Amino acid sequence: MRFPENFIWGAATSAYQIEGAHLSDGKGPSIWDAFCEIPGKVAKNENGNIACDHYNKFREDVKLMKELGIKAYRFSISWPRIFANGRKNSINEKGIQFYSDLIDCLLEHDIIPWVTLYHWDLPLALQFEEDGWLGDNISDLFAEYAELCFERFGDRVKNWITINEAWVIAILGYGQGVFAPGRISNSEPYLAGHNILLAHGKAVKVYREKFQSSQKGVIGITNNCDWREPKSDKPEDIEAAERALEFFLAWFADPIYKGDYPEVMKARLGDRLPSIDAETRNLLLGSSDFFGLNHYTTMFATDATGKNVEADVHGNGGLNEDQEVELSIDPDWKLTSMKWAVVPWGCRNLLQWIKKRYNNPPIYITENGCAYDDKVENGEVDDQHRVHFFKTYLEACQEAIESGVDLRGYFAWSLFDNFEWASGYEKRFGMVHVDFETQKRTPKASAKYYSSIIDNNSI
Ligand code: GAL
Repeated sequence: MRFPENFIWGAATSAYQIEGAHLSDGKGPSIWDAFCEIPGKVAKNENGNIACDHYNKFREDVKLMKELGIKAYRFSISWPRIFANGRKNSINEKGIQFYSDLIDCLLEHDIIPWVTLYHWDLPLALQFEEDGWLGDNISDLFAEYAELCFERFGDRVKNWITINEAWVIAILGYGQGVFAPGRISNSEPYLAGHNILLAHGKAVKVYREKFQSSQKGVIGITNNCDWREPKSDKPEDIEAAERALEFFLAWFADPIYKGDYPEVMKARLGDRLPSIDAETRNLLLGSSDFFGLNHYTTMFATDATGKNVEADVHGNGGLNEDQEVELSIDPDWKLTSMKWAVVPWGCRNLLQWIKKRYNNPPIYITENGCAYDDKVENGEVDDQHRVHFFKTYLEACQEAIESGVDLRGYFAWSLFDNFEWASGYEKRFGMVHVDFETQKRTPKASAKYYSSIIDNNSI
């Protein structure tokens, strides 16, 4: 089967994970620059100071993308490279020039830019001064930063993503403390999540009121979700899987598609979940032109009412005590080096769940991929596990499309091996291998495989 005409084939990265040049040309520090300085937070105490040195190598990187036949490139803008201290008064023209040059270079190579405004590198000053995503002003500050981006890049950028993975920011950054800013709490994630939604809504409002009709672009948000399969057909396990999906994806998608948080979250969280008043409802309802989805893995869900369940970072469990869901995997499932199970049908089921719950929105998979322990041998990387991953997940996407899901594009994560957050450089997600000593790029077998899929618009 061929994919639909005009299906968008892309690859994705994010600023802190690839750019390096962490304090060059007037860039201010971000919370990730600071977090990496705390001993023990990142594997081997690594950091993104140099990463793939993409800030200096972007021209050759774009050329490589062109050679691979990539049609669309999803990257993120680093807020503190644009406003060094997070606010308008700290505008950094050299940082703006970098993104402007990157965008021009992509367009010269016929590659469509898809730009994420926030992929986790909050200006450090705003963490100190505003309490990061907990602060009352943070959503307005984000909207001001977004406005500057629309103003300077919107003539050429037609695809905007406000926020990458609100769930990760809230749960890993404010709940489990394993990502910047490293806070541990069972209430802060819900406040941070609320402010992230407000930030998204306010940025979209600015875009729609001032730019969208003249610039003719689209804007949306990208959320992440694993699939949750009921462990048995007992009603309580079916309900547990549903509850887990609502605490994961509906937390952020319901306010946008239905105007309120899921009932199950309101009932279980009480005061810890901020409420959505009429004004906020208006701001959020209908505020995404497409459904951006990042998807990586699947787990079984078992009802654990009354039991004490441990939070599991690797399984993306969330704050399990709020959900009372126990997560597990099938021992026969193959694992990636992140210990995430490879379960392509989970991707299909999740796409169908989104179709049903949100009335068949246009969906873009803005990230999907896997980490393996790839080695260069005789100048080549034969990553057959990743080839298999892409093949089977894309087959699952086709099944979803055949069943009526309006899937319009797919972005492989990631173009390059890069700084994998708390896991450092050891976990390699790239289709292109990067030797971090020499900065040499070597396309893996999966890159060539992906090229051929793009070429044929079919697997
Ligand atoms: C996503 C994230 C990416 C990348 C990927 C693999 O959650 O947006 O930045 O790290 O996971 O873990």
